[in-house]
Amino acid sequence: MRMYDIIEKKRDNRELSKAEIDYFISEYSKDNIPDYQASALLMAIYFNGLTESELLNFTFAMRDSSKKIDLSSLKIPGKYIVDKHSTGGVGDKVTLIVLPIVAALGVGVCKMSGKGLGFTGGTADKLESIEGYRIDIPIKDALKQVQDIGICLMSQSDEIAIADKKLYALRDTTATVECMDLIASSIMSKKLASGADKILLDVTVGSGAFMKDLDSARALAQSMIKIGKVAGVETKVVITSMSEPLGRNVGNALEMKEVISFLLADEETIMSDEFRDLREVVLEIAAQMISMSGICTDMEQNKKDIIRVIISGEAYIKFIELIKAQGGKTEKVYLDWLEKDLDLPVTKDKVTFLKEIHAQSSGYIVSIDSKSIGEALVCLGGGRKKKGDPIDYAVGFEFNKKVGDKVEEGDVILTVLYNDKQNFEEAFEYIENAIYIDNIEDKLGNALRLKPHVLDILGADE
Ligand code: URA
Repeated sequence: MRMYDIIEKKRDNRELSKAEIDYFISEYSKDNIPDYQASALLMAIYFNGLTESELLNFTFAMRDSSKKIDLSSLKIPGKYIVDKHSTGGVGDKVTLIVLPIVAALGVGVCKMSGKGLGFTGGTADKLESIEGYRIDIPIKDALKQVQDIGICLMSQSDEIAIADKKLYALRDTTATVECMDLIASSIMSKKLASGADKILLDVTVGSGAFMKDLDSARALAQSMIKIGKVAGVETKVVITSMSEPLGRNVGNALEMKEVISFLLADEETIMSDEFRDLREVVLEIAAQMISMSGICTDMEQNKKDIIRVIISGEAYIKFIELIKAQGGKTEKVYLDWLEKDLDLPVTKDKVTFLKEIHAQSSGYIVSIDSKSIGEALVCLGGGRKKKGDPIDYAVGFEFNKKVGDKVEEGDVILTVLYNDKQNFEEAFEYIENAIYIDNIEDKLGNALRLKPHVLDILGADE
């Protein structure tokens, strides 16, 4: 078999056979196919898509490209092990909040997370903003950790779905990320190789997501649900909005601090405006995971339990157990507002410069373009321009205002934290056009503020 023929066939929009797909995935995984040929094939797929049978063959070949995790020997309270994955976004720190919460409620979680892709952030990078956190742990250690403390959050290693690991990094630098079939196969291959009984997917939609409109998000959701069905793994999808950055912080260490604030919040703070969008998404995803695990299918009860384990500190304790188990450094800090000493993760958060961005006019914030904010973060050094680039974990943005907030001219909308003036100049070109303020009626402003962030739920029991 020749790689040249496979590229030519896909370029001409002819269907690839299972043998051709298996050849490509297996030889590329073993470094026997150069990146330039793999890139050409990815671009042909980007333009022509995959047929249904090609998509299934592509996904299963990637799933089988290295070992699969066997979680069957684990003894945990939940009947089913549920995995979670997001198609990515800007400010998306949901995994870091949801996993300790559901683990505190008895759902066993063993999750592989990826690095930032394109303009979207990656949970693996956010975890590495903690001094010492080892994202790259062997599977046998991961399994022991899940058995001991009920939770593990690691990176994709060569041991699992290596084809996706390699293709994911290649796509990131060859403008082939935003392709529905490549996203579906990438996500489902590694989720299926991870061995969970059930999968919950967060498909994001909006400017800061790979799916720009609801129809495409639903199509991607259906495609992944179908792959799950053929593989015999129940798959459910929550579609969430990524039209503005999620939460109030964008940037690796800053997002980690927001996660910590969320998990340490009291009931009043959790229910406050500060967390309005993040709370909605976290509650839905966590409640769905608890339901799928077989622990409790009453979603309202699950949401009450989620708030309970946050307020009681159980979710935070689980989070700290996770950080410590994977080598993350913590220090004891006295928190005035909680009137006690607490273990806090030590983050790589050293920044030299702060710059406030002010409202140019009065009115309501009508939109904050999350893709521009994601691109601006890459300019600051908080994401990668090319494969393997180092990351500046400390840089990013703190938002004082969100979509639907009323502002007066001169109010601070966001603060930029950065370490390099040239990088800031580049980032500023994105930031200055990202925020749109208009003098709309109060009732329209309020409607924008109250717009739901959970847009649809598909799968399993439809
Ligand atoms: N997340 C993934 O794991 N893969 C993609 O291709 C996109 C988002």
